[in-house]
Amino acid sequence: MTASLLALASATPLYEGNNRVCYLHPRDPSLLVKIIKPSAEPHALRRRTRKFQRRLLPLRHYDIQDREIRAYRVLLRRVGPEVETFIPPVHGMVQSDLGPCLVTDFVRGADGAPGIALPDLIRQGYDAEAMESVERLRRFVLDKGVAACDFSPPNVVFARNAAGMLEAKLVDGFGNTDYIPGWQWSLSIARRGARRAVRKFDRKLALLMEER
Ligand SMILES: Nc1ncnc2c1ncn2[C@@H]1O[C@H](COP(=O)(O)OP(=O)(O)OP(=O)(O)O)[C@@H](O)[C@H]1O
Ligand SMILES: [Mg+2]
Repeated sequence: MTASLLALASATPLYEGNNRVCYLHPRDPSLLVKIIKPSAEPHALRRRTRKFQRRLLPLRHYDIQDREIRAYRVLLRRVGPEVETFIPPVHGMVQSDLGPCLVTDFVRGADGAPGIALPDLIRQGYDAEAMESVERLRRFVLDKGVAACDFSPPNVVFARNAAGMLEAKLVDGFGNTDYIPGWQWSLSIARRGARRAVRKFDRKLALLMEER
């Protein structure tokens, strides 16, 4: 084992989504690392698409982590450092004893408390302050044309910043799966896609509120 290989095999995962398992970075608690589950490996995702698509698109197209890294770079170029207020910085890939993993900032409050995902916040009480935070995130997605393939409530995490303001951040699902990534070249195409993503998000949020 090399010195730089992250030791995750004996660590307990902090979170699990449909596609990835998240661990605290063993050497830096301000970071989270994400490992792709076998069912969401690029090869597995490609197997589930139609044959003509498989021939047409490179394997990279099915790589969730790579998509996120590239989308973050595009947004940083387009928006500048303000992007960090709404999307935790994505730092790239590193090797671990469980395979390659994506490194991103761990959303925590200024007091160090881990962030709370939107479905959990709704169960605890979704008040006017939380709604305002979500509204700021929606505005950001719409104004900056954030391409979002999965703008859904579990991908929105809240934390209180040093000024005491509750911030809602999109931790996953940015970047899209279009064959031609028009959103990267044209802000109006990007904004059109963002409007679709926000409409879907609003429907999912409304359902969650009804189920509460
Ligand atoms: N940077 C982060 N800071 C804090 N919590 C996070 C962060 N990234 C992810 N999480 C938490 O971990 C959960 C799973 O992570 P993530 O959404 O990246 O996995 P996924 O498998 O890609 O998700 P999906 O099921 O949406 O495809 C999130 O729903 C969120 O609660
Ligand atoms: Mg997710």
